[in-house]
Amino acid sequence: MKNFLYRVKQKISKTIHPLKADLDTFNKGYSEFLSTGKTSNEAYLAFLNLYCNTNGKFQEAEHKKAIQNNPPKRTEDTLSGVIGSYTSGDFHSINNTLGKDGYIDLHRKVSPELVKKLTNFALRTETTTAPKYDKKMVYDPAHPVSEIYRFDMQDLVNNPDIQALIMDPVLINIARQYLGCEPIFDFPAMWWSTSFLKEASSEAAQLYHFDLDRFKWLKIFIYLTDVNEDNGPHRLIRGSHLPDAKPTELLKRGYARIPDEDIAQYHKKEDFIVIHGEAGAVFAEDTKCWHKGTPLRSGHRLVLEFEYTSSMFGSNYPTFEIKNASEEFKQFCKNNPVYAKNFRF
Ligand SMILES: [Fe+2]
Repeated sequence: MKNFLYRVKQKISKTIHPLKADLDTFNKGYSEFLSTGKTSNEAYLAFLNLYCNTNGKFQEAEHKKAIQNNPPKRTEDTLSGVIGSYTSGDFHSINNTLGKDGYIDLHRKVSPELVKKLTNFALRTETTTAPKYDKKMVYDPAHPVSEIYRFDMQDLVNNPDIQALIMDPVLINIARQYLGCEPIFDFPAMWWSTSFLKEASSEAAQLYHFDLDRFKWLKIFIYLTDVNEDNGPHRLIRGSHLPDAKPTELLKRGYARIPDEDIAQYHKKEDFIVIHGEAGAVFAEDTKCWHKGTPLRSGHRLVLEFEYTSSMFGSNYPTFEIKNASEEFKQFCKNNPVYAKNFRF
């Protein structure tokens, strides 16, 4: 830690918060986390400050330490799952792209049958609207009353089709390679975005921001509706996940939502990526990249997202109570204790 701190100090002339104080708070909070599994608010704030102060280098270093005793499992040379088969060479090239660009559009889709099943689930399961409307309701496409409708994670993990996706060996291996360890399944998320509000909503993450739940993580997204320029494509800044890639001027604002014009001042035009795709399209991203959902002009968008992580330090999410598991899912969790550590039966 000492050398690391020295190198950081050499590089950073202006710090947003005293680095030493944040390091002390983080170290205390991290040892508490190791014994309780919980991250305190102070430790999390210090962790955020350390990200902004070191331009991400702190998180990289902590990730490397956290995975030391968690080597990735060896797998078969070819793995098959919901988006087909991939060889070790394919995984290698996916991982190279993810490492360099921070995202990969896999240009493959899950089956139309699976899209239909998940969409039907999403049209009959209760959601929570944006907090300002404070409603719980099933989404009615004919009468939107919120720009976002989020599903409860417990409902998601108890859906058999989502359990099958959680076990998907191809998706897991993409995360395994990117994280360089046996990944932990962190959480699923699914939400409808609508054109109810015709302007960028901070609530619906429609302004550029980076996520910072963990030391290192990977998100895999599945579009469950066709997504084009009108109904809220995902946007990101290629390569901005890398340590030192974010402009210090923007990091000085801390963990803030950043207007497009400000991002455009610092990042090249060709690195502004927009992801369109048909229903079923799959892409992966390290959401340390600046990213956002585009405000919808019309229609709606349904997305399913999984997060895979190397450590649970950071945001405190609930563990998942599985009431409705197939025998296969139970067995899978038994055989993959690291991956399945957040599931309770
Ligand atoms: Fe985000």
